[in-house]
Amino acid sequence: MAKLWGGRFQKETDQLVDDFHSSISFDCRLYKYDITGSMAHAQMLARVGVIAPGEAEAIVAGLQQILDDIEAGRVEFSVTAEDIHMNVEQMLIERIGEVGKKLHTARSRNDQVALDVRMYLRDEIDAATTLLADLTGTLLDLAEKHTATVMPGYTHLQRAQPITLAHHLLAYCQMLNRDTDRLADCRRRVNVMPLGAGALAGTTFPLDREYVARELGFAGVTENSLDAVSDRDFAVEFCAAASLIMMHLSRFCEEIILWSTAEFGFIELDDAYSTGSSMMPQKKNPDVAELIRGKSGRVFGDLSTLLTMLKGLPLAYNKDMQEDKEALFDAVDTVKKCLQAFRPMVATMRVKDNNMAQAARGGFTNATDLADYLVQRGIAFREAHEIVGRAVAYCLEHQKSLEELSLEEYHQFSPAIEAGVYQAIDIARCVEGRSVTGGPAPTAVQEAIRAARERLKV
Ligand code: ARG
Repeated sequence: MAKLWGGRFQKETDQLVDDFHSSISFDCRLYKYDITGSMAHAQMLARVGVIAPGEAEAIVAGLQQILDDIEAGRVEFSVTAEDIHMNVEQMLIERIGEVGKKLHTARSRNDQVALDVRMYLRDEIDAATTLLADLTGTLLDLAEKHTATVMPGYTHLQRAQPITLAHHLLAYCQMLNRDTDRLADCRRRVNVMPLGAGALAGTTFPLDREYVARELGFAGVTENSLDAVSDRDFAVEFCAAASLIMMHLSRFCEEIILWSTAEFGFIELDDAYSTGSSMMPQKKNPDVAELIRGKSGRVFGDLSTLLTMLKGLPLAYNKDMQEDKEALFDAVDTVKKCLQAFRPMVATMRVKDNNMAQAARGGFTNATDLADYLVQRGIAFREAHEIVGRAVAYCLEHQKSLEELSLEEYHQFSPAIEAGVYQAIDIARCVEGRSVTGGPAPTAVQEAIRAARERLKV
């Protein structure tokens, strides 16, 4: 089959080059956007009198047929037709004849591919946003059940202060909220219509770009033809937002992996979301969590691929930019798959409340509360810190917890300690007392859950 751009060439392309520069093996996934974009373009050409209304009708009908055939699996794409744009155009000409050759008037593949990728990414952003909302909903349901499930909070992975599982889960909800905001912000810059930029310098035809934008649901049109065909910032932004989502999931996965060890024993993953070992019969491995953690690297790589590909490119379009697609598609696929796998994994895990509470009681997570108690009794915090430090050292030596010390024992450290101390350092009360906005007290957490649910509604 002759090339659509074959006019000025005397030789066939070398077969190796055909294979090498063809993108159809991966950009075929853009077919729906390519076709609907072309339909709007043809209708617009007729509207402004560049082609006849009957011609636009024939083109649209032909494109519709192609779309149906692709969807029914009746189309085999051709490598020599290079990419999805020329595959569709070539099929159209084969099917409707001469009039099909008018479709590409006042258009270049450079603005066409920018259009297709923007339409594709807009849909995928919406899909990812729904998945983020689903996951947030699941975390909130789980949090609701665990506002009184006390566990140790950590710094440096050392037990620090008591919190609740709900509070811990809500920290991730905050991350997911920011992820959602970032996607929405990215979408604003995706949702701009580039057709009319042509190859790089627009066109002499009197196009109605706003009409095309409206037909295809865009909020506006690009404002500089050079930028329109060379801009992939929106794809970079998506990969950056996707990288943050993956980083958040990966951190959560790391905790799930730790929590499911015998050493922590905070949770048990459901059998449906764990796997066994081919050699060690006793093993139950958190593979799903590990894979999500591992896949985060792919998405960071996709971001890096795009930035590196773009950094040295002179204006406007360069073929290097064809390399944007596999990275972008991989980021989209990976982040969606990971969000999908993560949600049921957390939804079905069994929480071992008792082990969490036990761990919160060990490790002196109430030491700050003991110091605060002394402050309330008129001792300066720095001195209180010192007193409690000595009490902890004593406990370690005698293998006791702070709540197990008698008043007599306490008096060796400070005469200010009285019977009220036991209430002050009771773990559940330590949590309840932290009712500052954003704190772990059940009252504060219930408020946070309510606010998060409210957010999900809009
Ligand atoms: N397949 C190309 C891409 O993905 C489409 C645009 C090609 N334009 C060109 N002049 N070669 O970027």
